[in-house]
Amino acid sequence: MVDTSHDWIFSRTGIVERRIAAEGVVTSDLAFEASRRAIESAGIIPDEIDLIVVATTTPDMQFPSTAAILQAKLGIKNGCAAFDVQAVCTGFIYALSTADQYLRSGKYRHALVVGADLLSRVIDWTDRGTCVLFGDGAGAVVLKAGDEPGILSSHLHCDGSYSQILCAPGRLSDGKISGSPFVHMNGNAVFKIAVTVLDEVAREAIEANGLTKSDIDWLVPHQANIRIIEATAKKLGMGMDRVVVTVDKHGNTSAAAIPLALDSAAREGRFRKGETILMEGVGGGVTWGALLLRW
Ligand code: ACO
Repeated sequence: MVDTSHDWIFSRTGIVERRIAAEGVVTSDLAFEASRRAIESAGIIPDEIDLIVVATTTPDMQFPSTAAILQAKLGIKNGCAAFDVQAVCTGFIYALSTADQYLRSGKYRHALVVGADLLSRVIDWTDRGTCVLFGDGAGAVVLKAGDEPGILSSHLHCDGSYSQILCAPGRLSDGKISGSPFVHMNGNAVFKIAVTVLDEVAREAIEANGLTKSDIDWLVPHQANIRIIEATAKKLGMGMDRVVVTVDKHGNTSAAAIPLALDSAAREGRFRKGETILMEGVGGGVTWGALLLRW
């Protein structure tokens, strides 16, 4: 479709494969599959869920929220709260942090947190600067309230003055889309900001818990680009054997990227009980954030 090559893409990004959802598939379909498996792993029934938070930039429709549609698909009849969070590639960190606050306050016991995006639907397939980077996916976790950590802390940030460097500016107006509905990105600018803010927020999370870099056992970063991931790991003094990398298999899946990486490492049995995991992401907004958890 565009003038590019595997070698160019792989050397710049580390991406080998991407998944594109079949025609007619919507974000809540992927979210449903991921949620079903997360609920099964958690050993609860869907009606025990008190809160659904879906991080997505590509909702099924303008409204209602994808979380509301997901609740119905899961057959949840208990009237639980359900809403979407929009922080693009940082969405899952924002969603997890939001759910964590509700559980900490004692308001809810079980939260379903989903990162799901169909970026393929908002990509201009003639723009080689963006179309090679993105894929579709969904990942989900069930958070349970408990006395043991769990999530140690979360740290969220945004600098809206950078909103133009990564955006899909189109909006519905008078029955038409006004402005471009496709992803527009200044790749170089995003790259520089990403490396800087991921380092800053990692330090913030580590210091907030009275830890040092050497206390971090695993890094589960947003999966956008292997060079951003490697630069982040280097600044943290971590070998790549302690970094979960899945970007080669699915490209940048936006809000789904972190939970997909978490799921793949968890199912491979890579994490040991008591290990400290740093998850972090950056995306449009520009938003960024980190979350430390004890496995
Ligand atoms: N295939 C071949 N050539 C390409 C392609 C492509 N797919 N895309 C761009 N080029 C060309 C450009 O046209 C340019 O050619 P020119 O020199 O003749 O003008 C040349 O390659 C270099 O372009 P750059 O944009 O400078 O390439 P760079 O090395 O910066 O890599 C990339 C581009 C991969 C987008 C990089 O900037 C990047 O990874 N940025 C981070 C962006 C990102 O990951 N965004 C995801 C969303 S945000 C997030 O999740 C963090």
